Amino acid sequence: MIRSEQHKDYKQVERVVRRAFEASGQPYHHEHALVGRLRSSVAFVPALSLVAEKDGQVVGHVLFTRIQIGNDSTAVESLALAPVSVLPEYQNQGIGSRLIETGLERARELGFASVVVLGHSTYYPRFGFEPAERYGVRAPFKVAPENFMIVSLRAGALANVQGMVRYAPEFSESCD
Ligand SMILES: CC(C)(COP(=O)(O)OP(=O)(O)OC[C@H]1O[C@@H](n2cnc3c(N)ncnc32)[C@H](O)[C@@H]1OP(=O)(O)O)[C@@H](O)C(=O)NCCC(=O)NCCS
Repeated sequence: MIRSEQHKDYKQVERVVRRAFEASGQPYHHEHALVGRLRSSVAFVPALSLVAEKDGQVVGHVLFTRIQIGNDSTAVESLALAPVSVLPEYQNQGIGSRLIETGLERARELGFASVVVLGHSTYYPRFGFEPAERYGVRAPFKVAPENFMIVSLRAGALANVQGMVRYAPEFSESCD
């Protein structure tokens, strides 16, 4: 079952994020702490923090937070998908996909026009993500172009979107 995260889930979500990233072999950037910071941010959209529950246990989580794309004079609102986590023993069963698909659908219903992700170029295109540089959308850090992606949530949404992505400051705060 995919549903909105509730306060009572916070501990379990922390564990899911920590275990998913620790087991992934990637350098661990304290993503569980990032989730905690983002919950207190103005960029937080409670309806877009989703958990996957199985047998009464939280086994997956995804978070979408508000970002801006543009320059100083014009900026449009968008969302960042980050992080997404599934407990290692529940991976490769479609749970991550269900979380992402449900999140994109909800974001569309809430009126958001696009979503940006920094991630694996072999995973996110299945949800419609394309390299953001095709639309003139740039990351605020150095990244291989194929890993910085964007998906439109409504027709023509990317036509007038250009510039650099500005994440919530909580993304770059210290993890300590
Ligand atoms: C990425 C993640 C959320 C996917 O969850 P999941 O429930 O296993 O996903 P699904 O079952 O829907 O999809 C599995 C697919 O994802 C692919 N996948 C998983 N990790 C991947 C990675 N690091 N790079 C590329 N593809 C990956 C699998 O190969 C599989 O591909 P297939 O469908 O072609 O066989 C999960 O692997 C995870 O928690 N990883 C650690 C945290 C992380 O790296 N998060 C993403 C960055 S924010």
